[in-house]
Amino acid sequence: MAKANPYGPQGWTPARIDDLTGKTYVITGANAGAGYEAAKIFLSKGASIVMLNRSTDKSEAAIEALKSEVGKDADVRCIKMDLADLGSVRTAAERVNAEVPQIDAFIQNAAIEQVATQQFTKDGFESQLGTNHYGHFLLTSLIFDHLVESKARIVIVGSGGHKMGLKRIQLEDMNFDNNYNPHVTYCHSKFAQMMFAYDLERRVKAANLPVSVHVCHPGAARTTLSKDEANKMTKFLFTLLSPLAQSAERGAWPEVLCATEDNLKESAYYGPTKRGEMVGPIGECNLEESVLDAEQAGKLWELSKAETGVRWPLPGYNPDSTEIGP
Ligand SMILES: NC(=O)c1ccc[n+]([C@@H]2O[C@H](COP(=O)([O-])OP(=O)(O)OC[C@H]3O[C@@H](n4cnc5c(N)ncnc54)[C@H](OP(=O)(O)O)[C@@H]3O)[C@@H](O)[C@H]2O)c1
Repeated sequence: MAKANPYGPQGWTPARIDDLTGKTYVITGANAGAGYEAAKIFLSKGASIVMLNRSTDKSEAAIEALKSEVGKDADVRCIKMDLADLGSVRTAAERVNAEVPQIDAFIQNAAIEQVATQQFTKDGFESQLGTNHYGHFLLTSLIFDHLVESKARIVIVGSGGHKMGLKRIQLEDMNFDNNYNPHVTYCHSKFAQMMFAYDLERRVKAANLPVSVHVCHPGAARTTLSKDEANKMTKFLFTLLSPLAQSAERGAWPEVLCATEDNLKESAYYGPTKRGEMVGPIGECNLEESVLDAEQAGKLWELSKAETGVRWPLPGYNPDSTEIGP
């Protein structure tokens, strides 16, 4: 059932944002698509942007384009980072901690999707899970103390795909060695990102830390997602459905909302609310309940720590106790 839109019938729009001078937003994958459009909105309101992108050439082109659209004094720069290479994520995290004094929101926007055949990241993870979830998990853990000091928001860009795949974490075969499917495996990676997000939200609340976690999705947006890696059928379907989708700019609004709007709800999921939550006014969307499963989330958390080799001393949330769990 559609939820009442707290931002009125037209939904949330960037017109609600005041001046953002003095604020800094760190965005992964901001050289294209929704991340680029989000950067443009923040810059147009006076904020500073640090993009974490994998391609130097594309980042230089994006910075040039942003300055030409927003103004030559726009404060935007890039720290190089490839989420599919944990070594690169570690180096980028060190630079963020050293070079970005204040982070108002850290937006986990970058992703790959619909990779036609089973591929692996540099560290041997199925490529979509490795890039979208493990890369962001490691990055978040390594800059977490800095996010706490900054009283930052953590924004995780999910997907309606979390309702379409397995709707659980395939702990017994995280690389999909036995049942690889481009769409299901992408949905699994977005489910993992969102399950991690809600787990992190519970943990920071239990630990009474001054950070908040928010989850959104862009709906169906005309971006560059699926451009290279997808198989021919997926590309054909995306081209066919493209006129039904919304612009990349509107696809960026939910992540900008999560980074700036006051009084966001807990365990919520923001995005377009019409036509199967693919387009339309931005408000609160419906979640697949299994993504809130705290027990499974705890297993994903421990596995993600082991796979990425981080110590993240943020205790688990124990729903049966007022104490913080192990
Ligand atoms: N578009 C939709 O309809 C839709 C629907 C549901 C959810 N989403 C979600 O929305 C978010 C934004 O996607 P989008 O549609 O804007 O896609 P996009 O246009 O393809 O942009 C994705 C961004 O992620 C970057 N990226 C990919 N792999 C990376 C890596 N290994 N390391 C660092 N950056 C990497 C890309 O960089 P390169 O330019 O170098 O590739 C690009 O900047 C994603 O989380 C996606 O899952 C999108």
